[in-house]
Formats: sequence, C-alpha cells, structure tokens
Amino acid sequence: MNDVLTLDDFEILARERLPHMAYEFVSSGAADEVTLRENREAFSRIKLRPRVLLDVSRIDTSVSLFGEVLPFPILLAPVAYQKLMHPEGEIAAARGAAKAGATFIMSTAATCAIEEVAATGARLWMQIYLQGDRSVTRDLVQRAENAGVRALCLTVDTPVIGTRNRQQRANFVLPPNLPTPHLDADGRSRLSVVSATREPIGWRDVDWLRSQTRLPVLLKGILDSNDAQLALEHGASGVIVSNHGGRNLDTVPAAIEALPSIAEAVAGRCPLLLDGGVRRGTDVIKSIALGASAVMIGRPYAFALAIGGSDGVERALAILREELETALALLGRPSVKSIDRAVIW
Ligand code: FNR
Repeated sequence: MNDVLTLDDFEILARERLPHMAYEFVSSGAADEVTLRENREAFSRIKLRPRVLLDVSRIDTSVSLFGEVLPFPILLAPVAYQKLMHPEGEIAAARGAAKAGATFIMSTAATCAIEEVAATGARLWMQIYLQGDRSVTRDLVQRAENAGVRALCLTVDTPVIGTRNRQQRANFVLPPNLPTPHLDADGRSRLSVVSATREPIGWRDVDWLRSQTRLPVLLKGILDSNDAQLALEHGASGVIVSNHGGRNLDTVPAAIEALPSIAEAVAGRCPLLLDGGVRRGTDVIKSIALGASAVMIGRPYAFALAIGGSDGVERALAILREELETALALLGRPSVKSIDRAVIW
C-alpha cells in the first residue's frame, strides 16, 4: 500500500486483485456510462484561481455539520455489500473511518449489522432504502438510533435499479450466502442487478420517515432544484446532490454541474452535500466553492477497503485530506470555511 499515492491507484490495484464480478460491481455505471465519466470530467473542466502571498502557514480543514465539528469535509458514502470487497466488510470500513476521523454512512444493503459497525466507535450515519414492509424500516431506524447513529439519508433516486449492463455482462449476482441483515427478501431482490419489483416511494414517505425519528433526515439523490425546494418543504434537514455515482439514469449531468442551481434554490436553508467523481482535494474545494458543505466518496474507499481493509480506508481518507490541505495553501486560503466562489476561475 506504500505505492498508493492517489485514490485512483487503489482502483488500479483492486482491478488486479478483486474477483472480476466484484470489481465490475463497484466500478461500473449505468448503460453507456456517460454520467459516470462526466462526474470526473466535469471536475476537470472547472479551473481554479489562486491568490498569492497570503498567510497559509496554518490550514484548517474543519467544518460544522448538524451541530458537530468534522475535522475535514469528506464522508464515506453508503456503498452496499462491502463483504464483496473485504471479509470484514462494513466493520473494517468503519474502523478506517474512525481512525481517520471521518463519518461512515452505512447502507441499508450492508453485510454487517448496525450494532457491530457502531462498536467500531466511528461517527455513523445510516442510509435508508424504504422496504415494502414499513415495520422493517421502522425497526432499522430504531436500531440505528439506539446504536448512536447521528443522521439518516433517505435515498430517493432509486425507484428501480439502473440499466447496469456492465454488471450484467460480468454475470453479477448476489452470492446466496452473503449476509444482508437489514434487507427483507423483497429488498434483497429489488436491489439486485435487474430490478424485480418496484417499491413505490413518494413525498408522503419522507413525511413518514421524519415522523419515525428525532434524527436529521437528508434526501440523497437530488439533481433538480424543484426537488430540493420540495425537500425543504417536507422538512428535510439536508440535501445530497448525487446521481448515484452514475449508476442509475445515464446521461444526467455530473453532480457538480447540478450543484449551483440547487445551491441557489436552497439559499443556505439547509446543508448540501455532494457525491460523484470526487477523487482529488481540488474536487473537494470546487464542490465547496459551488455550494456544498461537505462531499462524500464512494468507489475510492470501496477499492481501498479491498486492498488494505481498515488501513486502506484510513489511507484513502488521509490522501484526500492532505491533497485538500495542499490545494488550500496553493490557493491562498487558510481554511475550508474561507472557500467561496472567488476560488473558481
Ligand atoms: C453505491 N451507492 C449507493 N447509494 C445508496 O444510497 N445506497 C447504496 O446501498 C449504495 N450502494 C452503492 C454500491 C456501490 C458499489 C457504489 C459504487 C455506489 C452510491 C454511493 O452512495 C454514491 O452516491 C456514489 O458512489 C458516489 O460516487 P463515487 O464517489 O463512487 O464516484
């Protein structure tokens, strides 16, 4: 792992070491993968504007989110089925997050139980896929609260699974012995590669989920400013601008391209997070400059988990954090809090 210098290096190693099916599951996007590529390319097109001769002898990457101070604005996005990447699955990922001081967002489609993951001491959020039987979700929310989870992310962009052709070509199937302790049979089949059934979910379900919990509820997977507005009207505590890492509807724009109009509509009334293609410290800065409070990474830490377990995840977070510090200094900005639109060329 000493050879690993960038987040992309983890993917190169993972491609060599993971079983083909698991690598394809993580790396692929939907259909022609136009959006998957755009998530990266849109960041590359945005140029930065450094200022010089400013005091950057001390760099502060901390941010506040929901009343807590995070040492840096990078969270681990919910990624399903982590025992496909490492035998300890989400437990190892959460341990890596804990060592790095990052927040781990656990997927409903996790392969470890929430209580075991909480025992790592990581700061935890939980992602929610509503399941056919609402009592299953109600129990999960209760268990998450009891385990000390700090926020819930309701994923709203997946009424069906996208057209995952690369996964189909790799004959991806969930191994029958893969544990999915928080999914019922319906959820397990619905979240397999080719969607079998549809779980109708609407704005009333956002109200329902809010009625079940004291925790902040963020809506994950919003690209349209009208939906961000509706999220606020339905009491969402935060909005996650995301195209699901290019895995759902292909040819939607990059998350970073959707961010400015959503930031304008939300106008500071709730925090915005962004994911999709964040691979460099400069991507973190661009996201914050265009209106995000923090970003999340998905695939990079899944590959890091495959390569180095909890140490890999810790290393991935350290690389991104160091790049963020370097980029701040080179921009002439002493802190994440001082980033504004003027850093964009
Ligand atoms: C995901 N994502 C995801 N999102 C979610 O809400 N629940 C989930 O269970 C999963 N599972 C999942 C599995 C895998 C293998 C990937 C790659 C992604 C989407 C994820 O949370 C996030 O939106 C994207 O991964 C962000 O894009 P990057 O960082 O992977 O480019």
